[in-house]
Amino acid sequence: MQPNLNYTKITQYIMAGNRTFTMIKPDAVRAGNIGNILQMINEAGYRIVAMKLTQLSLAKAGEFYEVHKERPFYGELCEFMSSGPIVAAILEKDNAVEDFRNLIGATNPANAAPGTIRAKYATSVGENAVHGSDSDENAAIEGAFHFGGVEKF
Ligand code: CDP
Ligand code: MG
Repeated sequence: MQPNLNYTKITQYIMAGNRTFTMIKPDAVRAGNIGNILQMINEAGYRIVAMKLTQLSLAKAGEFYEVHKERPFYGELCEFMSSGPIVAAILEKDNAVEDFRNLIGATNPANAAPGTIRAKYATSVGENAVHGSDSDENAAIEGAFHFGGVEKF
């Protein structure tokens, strides 16, 4: 007799909270910090599920940051995010979203805790080296924005 279990639900439960999405932003790529940032991600225990060097068009940056479209910095943010190549990646680890937000530090590097990625590599509140998803739901949406199923491992 089959046990009375819903395997889809169990799989979702086990996977929930295990993935986040990041971008190494154009400022950090230009400054030659891809390697340094990936090393910090590696040392924090993340497994790379998907990764690529890519560049957002202005329209695609606008779509990615649509949630901020009423904010005064939206135009500048989209210009900046489309100004050069980025590294996009899906990362996996227990408690991925929250731990990654702690690893990157506060949005404004002036407020970022010492030793965080933004404290080390961000130069301003706008040009702040890395993106990190703020929820499991957004991690899934943002990962799907950049990667198809066959690009995830
Ligand atoms: O990236 P994070 O989730 O920490 O911050 P956010 O509030 O979701 O804002 C998204 C991005 O907009 C930031 O990472 C900055 O690049 C930019 N931003 C800005 O240019 N000026 C602000 N006052 C706030 C955010
Ligand atoms: Mg955010």
